[in-house]
Amino acid sequence: AGLHNAAVAKGKLYFGSATDNPELTDAPYLAQLSSTEDFGQITPGNAQKWDSTEPSQNTFSYTNGDVVADLAAANGQKLRCHTLVWHSQLPNWVSSGTWTNATLIAAMKNHITNVVTHYKGKCYAWDVANEALNEDGTYRDNVFYQTIGEAYLPIAFAAAAAADPDAKLYYNDYNIESPGAKSTGAQRIVKLVQQYGAKIDGVGLQAHFIVGSTPSQSAQVSNLAAITALGVEVAYTELDIRMTLPSTAALLTKQSSDYQNTVAACMANAKCVGITIWDYTDKYSWIPNTFAGQGDALPWDANLVKKPAYAGILAGLGVT
Ligand code: G3I
Repeated sequence: AGLHNAAVAKGKLYFGSATDNPELTDAPYLAQLSSTEDFGQITPGNAQKWDSTEPSQNTFSYTNGDVVADLAAANGQKLRCHTLVWHSQLPNWVSSGTWTNATLIAAMKNHITNVVTHYKGKCYAWDVANEALNEDGTYRDNVFYQTIGEAYLPIAFAAAAAADPDAKLYYNDYNIESPGAKSTGAQRIVKLVQQYGAKIDGVGLQAHFIVGSTPSQSAQVSNLAAITALGVEVAYTELDIRMTLPSTAALLTKQSSDYQNTVAACMANAKCVGITIWDYTDKYSWIPNTFAGQGDALPWDANLVKKPAYAGILAGLGVT
């Protein structure tokens, strides 16, 4: 069947994977990434971030992002575009610049307008703002919030909407996959952008989970319902489920059921449009570089062999 084919058969728009430019020279990796039976959508993991696209002010660079966008087009895959306004992978000229309210708004709008215009017509969705919240649901104290206040969020969404009216505009964050202060914060951002009169179409739930402490299916179902009640769609945008290494048969079985429950939560909400895993193979996961001693978070192992999680995802998609 394949993950994407199964998702589409059940009414979803896509099942997809993140990727990154260095990996694309790996021919077996690229062949599986390009298999539209499994992946109907890809996301560039780094290539469209601010430090890649505008490393110095008003000098734009689209080489790596275009490689991923062209690959999606050649394969007939949707592209989720990631990300416009984020505190991380932000060049020093932004994060350490000397700004006023007016000059930072102008620089932010210039960035958004240029990048979104460059990719106009190619992005199913843009993650307009990424990780703007602290764990308690208050605003993260990044340069945008410090200088502009919460208005930076609706201003960013309005600029993106003006540059590509057809792209779905998302707020994207982690630890918002079950009810709680941070998910409430994400819902507050949706309402803020709406009240400002700007367009917001969706909330992206990154879903960087841990085997055994993945939120339950019922918690995820309630959470998705609370968000979609605001009139926006949702998507799982960066799903992976890590474990402390070495993996065991029991951990791989638990990982499979954690994947199944998460995918099933999306299936249970008609406004959950799709699911993206944050790359598909343990060979190229971000986890071991960030969490020492952890890994094996993805449905294909480092040899590109399917793990039990693959069958768990299919089961979550309703394939028996
Ligand atoms: O580009 C430099 C390169 O010049 C240098 O030689 C190399 C040496 O380590 O580092 C390269 O930068 C790395 C970059 O990825 C590109 O490969 C950074 O060190 C590394 O920290 C960075 O990691 C990325 C991470 O975001 C940074 O926050 C991951 O690949 C990427 O998967 C990850 O993705 C994020 C999402 O955007 C947002 N949600 C969380 C998710 C996981 O952290």
